[in-house]
This record gives sequence, structure tokens and C-alpha cells, in this order.
Amino acid sequence: MNVVHRHGDVVHRPVSPATPAIHRLLRHLHDHGFHGAPEPRGFDSEGNEMVTFLDGAVPDALTPELRTHDLLTSAAALLRALHDASVTFRPRPDDPWLVPARHPAEVMCHGDAAQYNCVVRDGRAVGFIDFDAAHPGPRSWDVAYAVYRFAPLQGPDNPESFGTPQQQGRRVADFCRAYGPQVGAEVIDVVPDRLQALVDFMHEQASQGNEAFQRHIAEGHADLYAADIRYVRTHRDILRAAFEPS
Ligand SMILES: Nc1ncnc2c1ncn2[C@@H]1O[C@H](COP(=O)(O)OP(=O)(O)O)[C@@H](O)[C@H]1O
Ligand SMILES: [Mg+2]
Repeated sequence: MNVVHRHGDVVHRPVSPATPAIHRLLRHLHDHGFHGAPEPRGFDSEGNEMVTFLDGAVPDALTPELRTHDLLTSAAALLRALHDASVTFRPRPDDPWLVPARHPAEVMCHGDAAQYNCVVRDGRAVGFIDFDAAHPGPRSWDVAYAVYRFAPLQGPDNPESFGTPQQQGRRVADFCRAYGPQVGAEVIDVVPDRLQALVDFMHEQASQGNEAFQRHIAEGHADLYAADIRYVRTHRDILRAAFEPS
């Protein structure tokens, strides 16, 4: 969505009203031992933000060679470490996060934790980039979107989907086990709510004149999410059963 330029070790990206708060978050994460995120480097003369470049590949899609247990579980562990490092971050009441805070605000959610914002090195997730959608929220809210993308939890109408509901359920359970005990089978029921919030957000932004979201809706993205919401609801019991010890 953004025009991003790289100069050496620094990436220049357009800003939003949330950028100063996001830079405070990125600084906090680094200061608290989480290095799987860009470091803030201020602003260039054109007003773009600058953040450090994370070395590796950022995959658009989970092509067959990226559908490994290692990539899945390393992404989960990375998200857990990000959340843990954010627990001591104190958002300010007037921070203008682009995505509204969600309660309970246990951690800072990345807000778009997907392979297309994930830096991969040697088959493992080593970083998350693009914190534009960061906001306070529950751990399971962020995990719900991550498993939607990484398991994935998409139906056959979605060109990015792969696996049967049973196989997808096992990947969700593997992701959650690697994440830690805070998130379990209940995440299956969070996914439809998380996707519906995204669809609502897209419509809200589009109606306020956001051209990127207007284009996404025209291209059918909101319809795809709606179909995936129905898919997850339809297969809920099979997906949840994957969490039971066999
Ligand atoms: N800090 C970074 N480190 C490494 N690559 C980056 C970084 N920021 C952006 N990129 C690259 O630029 C692409 C687009 O950047 P991103 O920040 O995700 O913007 P958007 O999603 O709005 O297009 C990414 O897919 C990635 O390849
Ligand atoms: Mg991105």
C-alpha cells in the first residue's frame, strides 16, 4: 500500500498520524530486548519516517516451500516475544492508533501479523515489519489474525488457501502451542470477530475517502474475508478438535 524506499540500512516510509506513537513502541520493544522489529530512526527531509532495514525475505504468499512447521512455529514464538516485550509499554490516552484499541488491552498488537509483514531467514521468521496497524489489545486478537494468515483459515474460494480443515486446525494448534499457554482453542471463535472488525474498518476507511481501502473493496477483498468468516464458522468444531490431545 505504501511507497517504501531503502537507502542502505534504512527504510523510508510515508507517515500517518500514528507514526510518533509507533516509533515510541518500536523504541520500547528494542529497549526491552525484542529485536525482531525495525528500530526507529526519525524522519527524513521530506517527512517520511525512517526505520532500520531487517535483512531477509518478506514473502507475499505462503508458497509450498514456506508451509513448514519451522516457519509456523517461529512466527508464533516471535509474536509471543513481541507481545511480552510490549506488556510494559504504556500507550497514552490520546495516542492516535490507526486501528482502535480493543479491550482488554493486555499487550500491543502488531495488527497485521502476516507473512507479507514477516521477515524470513533460513526458513524461520526473524522479524515483523510494518507496524502501521499497531494498537493495544488482547493477545488472542493478534493471534487470531496471524493464524488466519499462517494456518491459513481460509476456504477454497480464497486463492491463498491450502489444506483441509483438519490440517488447518492442526497448524492453528501448533501455532498456539508455540505461542504459549495464553492462547488456546478459543482463538477459533475469535477469528470471525477479528475478520469482521477488519471488514468494518475497511468500509469505514473507504467511506472517509481512503482510496487504498476503496480499491481493496472494489477488488473483492471484503467479500473474500466474508467468505472466510463463513468458512471458519462452518468448520468450527473440526478446527477446535485439533487442539485436543490425540
Ligand atoms: N524495515 C524493513 N525491513 C525490511 N524490509 C522492509 C522493511 N520495511 C519495508 N520493507 C519491504 O518493503 C515492503 C513493503 O513494506 P511495508 O512496510 O510492509 O508497507 P506496505 O505493506 O504498506 O506496502 C515489504 O514487503 C518489505 O519487502
Ligand atoms: Mg506491509
